[in-house]
This record gives sequence, C-alpha cells and structure tokens, in this order.
Amino acid sequence: MDRRLRESIKQHFKNKFPPPKFKPGITPVPVSGKVFDEQELLKGVAAVLDGWWTEGHFAQGFEKAFAKLTGVRYVTLVNSGSSANLIALSSLTAKVFGERALKAGDEVITAATGFPTTVNPILQNGCVPVFVDNDLETKNATLTSIKKAISVKTKAIMMAHTLGNPLPIAGILELAQKYKLWFIEDCCDALGSRYKNKLVGAFGHLATFSFYPAHQITMGEGGAVITSNPLIFRALRQFRDWGRDCWCDTGKDNTCRRRFGWQMGELPAGYDHKYIYSQIGYNLKLTDMQAAIGLSQLRKLPRFVKARQNNFKELSDFFEQYERFFICSKSEPESKPCWFGFMLVIRDGAPFTRLDIVNYLEDKHIATRSLFGGNLLRHPAYLKRSGMRVIGQLMNSDKIMRDGFWIGVYPGIGKPQLSYIKKCFSDFLEKFVT
Ligand SMILES: Cc1ncc(COP(=O)(O)O)c(C=O)c1O
Repeated sequence: MDRRLRESIKQHFKNKFPPPKFKPGITPVPVSGKVFDEQELLKGVAAVLDGWWTEGHFAQGFEKAFAKLTGVRYVTLVNSGSSANLIALSSLTAKVFGERALKAGDEVITAATGFPTTVNPILQNGCVPVFVDNDLETKNATLTSIKKAISVKTKAIMMAHTLGNPLPIAGILELAQKYKLWFIEDCCDALGSRYKNKLVGAFGHLATFSFYPAHQITMGEGGAVITSNPLIFRALRQFRDWGRDCWCDTGKDNTCRRRFGWQMGELPAGYDHKYIYSQIGYNLKLTDMQAAIGLSQLRKLPRFVKARQNNFKELSDFFEQYERFFICSKSEPESKPCWFGFMLVIRDGAPFTRLDIVNYLEDKHIATRSLFGGNLLRHPAYLKRSGMRVIGQLMNSDKIMRDGFWIGVYPGIGKPQLSYIKKCFSDFLEKFVT
C-alpha cells in the first residue's frame, strides 16, 4: 500500500475514533463491542485494494494462524458462528462415516439454555435434540444430566461452553468414547478459554467459533469450524461450498489433476468435477475483507483474553459480599475461562426482582443481557414442536431465564467503568443490607 494512503488511513482512525473518555452516568457501559485500532482499517483496506474480495490469501493466512493457535489441523472459515454450527453438524451426515453418520431420527444431546443456533442445526438435519438442564453455577449441562440423556439413538453431543465457561470436558470425552458419540464444542463465546491448559476447541471432533463483534475477536461477521479429522474437513468444505465434490480453493482449477476424469452418480463420464455435487450444500463462505480484519484482531487476542479475565476477577471479588443475593458463576477444576460476560442469578427470596435491578442498571447506562434465549423450549419456535426430547423439568433453565442477567467484561471496560459498575450495584443493594 502506498505510504500516503497508509498515513491517511491512520489519520482517519485518529480523527474518527479518538480514545473514549468515560463520563460516569453519561457514557454507556456496553456488554460487548469491537475493540480495534488503525491496524484493522489498514488490513481491511489492503484486502479491498487487493481486488480479490472473495475468500483468498487473507483467509488462508487466518486459517493457518488459527490452526497454529488452536493446535488443530484444519480450519474452515465461514460467514458466522451460526453457519459454523450448521456445517459442523451437517458434515457428520456425510456417507463416508458409514454407521456413525448422522441420519434423521438420531439423537443429539444439547443444553436447554443458550443460543438457538447451537440447537437449530440438529433440527435442520432432521435429528432429535435431547435437551438437558443447565447448572445454576456453571450455566453448563452437567455430566450427570448428559449421562441421563444417553439412549440407544444417541449419536452426538453438541453444546456450548456457556459464556466462555468450559464444559466438564474430561467426563464428556469419556462418554463420547464409551458410547461412540461425536462431540461438537460450540466455542462461539469461548475463544481463549482453557481446559487442562489447552484451548477449548481442541477437544471435540469439531469445534465452532463466532467472530461477530460481541465475541473475543471480530471480523464484523464471521465464524470458523476446526477439526483434525481429514474426512470431517472434506465434508465441511463440501457443505460450505454449495455441496460440491471438488476441493479446489476459490479461483483455482484442477487441483485433483483429473477435473474431467471423474465418473460419479449417473453423470456422463468426465463431467466437470467443479459442478459435481455430493452433498446438499450451502454457500457460507466469507470475504477476504473479513478475514483481513480478523488477522489484525487475532494479534490482539492475548491482550483481550487477559482483559476479560481481569475484569471478571475484579467483579467476582466485589460480588463476594453480596452472595446472599446472587448466585455467581463457578468453573470446572483445571479450567481457565476467557469469560464472555459476568452472570448473576438472583437467589430465591431476594428482596428485589431481576426487572427491578435490570431496569435500574439500564437507567444508569449499564447494559445487561439475558443468557441469550434462556430456556429455548419456552420460545414460540420450539414450543410444542415434535421430534424433540426433554430430560427432567429444566427447573434451572427456567430459573436462569427468570432471575439471571449478565453484564460486560469485554476489553472496552477498564478501571473507570468497573468502579462505576461497582458503585451503582452498591447504591442499589445498600438498602437491602441489614
Ligand atoms: C453459543 C453461541 N453459538 C452460536 C452463536 C452464533 O454466532 P453468530 O452470531 O456469529 O451467528 C452465538 C452468538 O452469539 C453464540 O453465543
């Protein structure tokens, strides 16, 4: 890029995005947001000037760096975390997996509380989601509840590390091995979280990530699926790229060196491999501009992880004094979460309701969120739907939905915001402390 253009982009960044000054009570405290500098603008513009635009060398660069980071062999970029989940589950329906291939009617164990697109691919593939309750402290499904959900029809476990909090992975892996189950880790909220000192995502047969701005790093929109299994990788690419059998990168031809040498299905011999379809696929690729921005964000990940962990710790320490009012989050032994948010669940019998405190905080410009959809089964889309199984009464999911909310810990929150958050909570709670 020409030096003058570089300088003018840097200047643009300085003018348009001056360092924010925090004014307590006036400046909003969001739950999440993009944190970036001129590097993201420079990389994004470089990808535009490159003139390629669809998935290209920036995407390849990101995939390589992400594989190195996670220690997994294959990375497939997609246009969202939801797309990542969709192709992750769909890939397991590929015929190459023989008896283990997912088919309509097979059961997939998932958690009742969370984000809908962790669950939707199960329904979209004609499989049966089996919903288990979430724990009030970890907000994850427990090992006991997962064990209870296993039946002869169970083929997979697909669930999120809720709010970045690692699942009981060791136990899940044992179950997966014992019952020959696939394990898909939804790490959309958990990039940077560790379990036994390894990044989450490196444990399951597949793992998914989201790069929407709320997440640990962003591309605007974007996602990824990772796996070390070459057959899964091939199926992922097929589902992502229109269902085609051909594995050429975008813009490349004849990687297999026999483009006109295949005979598949009932097609004429030598039919162009580029247009042979072995899956009912989609097009879920991203653009090189997104990948370029992602590359700059990836460099900032260690700093972002530390900031989230420090913010979480400071809030945890603060809320110890209010334990009588709130259930705070706990994590598995040997895990080190990179938290997505700081969640509080109001205890039964507390002298205020979720709406009382959430309205108060929002009035003070401190943003709050529910644990996404809460108990998904209560939503119009899932209510009374057939082809689903539920384990138990989902009492915790209902409680989290009724009495839970979370506030931000993202790197845009620093000491001044934390002090303000703490002061507002103290002001609200003081009158109830006797
Ligand atoms: C656990 C989980 N899975 C999947 C998604 C979907 O990601 P995206 O918004 O990129 O589609 C989200 C979104 O925040 C999420 O929290």
